[in-house]
Amino acid sequence: MKGFDKYIPFVPQPIENRTWPDRTIERAPVWCSVDLRDGNQALIDPMNMEEKLEMFHMLVDEIGVKEVEIGFPSASDTDYSICRELIEGGHIPDDVTIQVLVQARPHLIKKTFEAIQGAKHVIFHFYNSTSTLQRLVVFRTDVEGVKKIATDAADLIYEMAQPVIASGMDLRYEYSPESFMGTEMDAAVEICEAVLDHLHADEAHRVILNLPTTVENCMPNQFADEIEYFIRKLPGRERAIISLHPHNDRGCGIATTEMGLLAGAERVEACLFGNGERTGNVDMITVALNMFSQGIDPGLDFSHMERIIDMYQRCTKMQVPERQPYAGDLVFTAFSGSHQDAINKGFNYMQETGTTKWMVPYLPINPGDLGRTYEPVRINSQSGKGGAAFIMRHKFGYDMPKAMHAEFGRVVQQESDRQGIELKPETVFRLFEDTYLNVNGPYRLISNKLGANVENGVAHSHFYGKLQHKDTVFEVSGDGNGPIDAFFNAIHGERMDRYEFIDYKEHAISRGSDSRAVAYIQLRDRKGRDIFGVGLDHNISMASIKGILCAINRARAMESAEKAEKGE
Ligand code: KIV
Ligand code: ZN
Repeated sequence: MKGFDKYIPFVPQPIENRTWPDRTIERAPVWCSVDLRDGNQALIDPMNMEEKLEMFHMLVDEIGVKEVEIGFPSASDTDYSICRELIEGGHIPDDVTIQVLVQARPHLIKKTFEAIQGAKHVIFHFYNSTSTLQRLVVFRTDVEGVKKIATDAADLIYEMAQPVIASGMDLRYEYSPESFMGTEMDAAVEICEAVLDHLHADEAHRVILNLPTTVENCMPNQFADEIEYFIRKLPGRERAIISLHPHNDRGCGIATTEMGLLAGAERVEACLFGNGERTGNVDMITVALNMFSQGIDPGLDFSHMERIIDMYQRCTKMQVPERQPYAGDLVFTAFSGSHQDAINKGFNYMQETGTTKWMVPYLPINPGDLGRTYEPVRINSQSGKGGAAFIMRHKFGYDMPKAMHAEFGRVVQQESDRQGIELKPETVFRLFEDTYLNVNGPYRLISNKLGANVENGVAHSHFYGKLQHKDTVFEVSGDGNGPIDAFFNAIHGERMDRYEFIDYKEHAISRGSDSRAVAYIQLRDRKGRDIFGVGLDHNISMASIKGILCAINRARAMESAEKAEKGE
């Protein structure tokens, strides 16, 4: 591919003895949602008032975000109005801080102060661009020039803030050296230190220094080096809250955020589902749930993911992709047979051992934690026996014996190959019905009587039945120590008795108020092949007899098909 040589490679910040690679994330950062600003400004149809209010309420009332950038009130009438509505309409809970963004320009700063009147908690967020490239091509100025833009703005904001603070508003400051990642780090430190000074920051009045990857232009480790270097070099670091604002141009926004946190950042600005300019802002949900999956409380609640998706898609007219981490339609689904098997085994292991820990391979977290049911594994031609068994158990309540999984798995796989598409759970169930429950010949039970008694402490069963084979009706009867034994004895001598009884499993199955027993019977034919039958009845003994009959009928059908194939 031609053209690569016109690009200027990123110049990494040299750093000695970096410490961030040896750290782990141990606690959640302060979260700030920028959905209503950065997310909104990147929409083809920006949200209207109603949509913004709906999203705001979802963010603060249901997800639990405590800091929300609500817009750019000096830049658009809609943003100004939403700011006023939030404040005047009493939408902002007392423990939530609204954040307003403004460029470092006097008339816009003044307008922003007007917009926030009456709010209880406000973060006044101002920014100007500082990178080498922006200084060269946009502002045509040097570091002193961009520093002056920042400190002039800081002076004005500080001055205008005093009466507002005196009147009772809890007002804090945030400064973003926009395009921080492309700024020489010593220059970024110099500019941010000056801003802290001009805002009279101290430990009791910490200023948020928000360090964005306005355009993600380096690897996450290189960005982490920048953050560690910046923090080390910043005089009076305790006067600042170090915040990240990652975008996702190289698709590394999550890693950039996580490594930035390792490097010492303590706050993250992000959007739901990674909405935002170009490739988006970093996805708050993924960063938070990555922590959750490591046993760390993210301090946010995504236990109602479907509602969040629904709100997001309606308000933004954007789609959550099917493979979006934690949220996509397909992320709790396994197509591959070996994955399906392992998931099945994981669930069984957890049930058997009663462990409180999540131990299901291929599912990094329990979908139930997000309010999603485990979508039973989906079935396509790559799926194995475990997938079909899983669907039958978890969706329809049929817990087939393990030995039967392979036989039914083959039936399902053949159908999937034939159709060449994914099979719906209902199709899997129909195949189960056709294969086992709707088997009506060649032997049919016309009527029967099943009796049981106990003599001298020993149980006896008696089976009497009228069976039909093609046009012939015949009677059978037999005794045994249980219904299965009695039935086998009854059919002894008939052509039905050439199968060896191998195993049996039964359980109750409830559908609404209808509770029935299902019995799975494993027989072996004279060639040593195993064949299964399933019986369903309100009476557990009849379920097993129907199961035997089903297995025999299936065996006979198989033999007839083999004969037909050989032309016998
Ligand atoms: O991406 C960015 O740099 C921004 C700033 C305004 C913080 O959105
Ligand atoms: Zn941004």
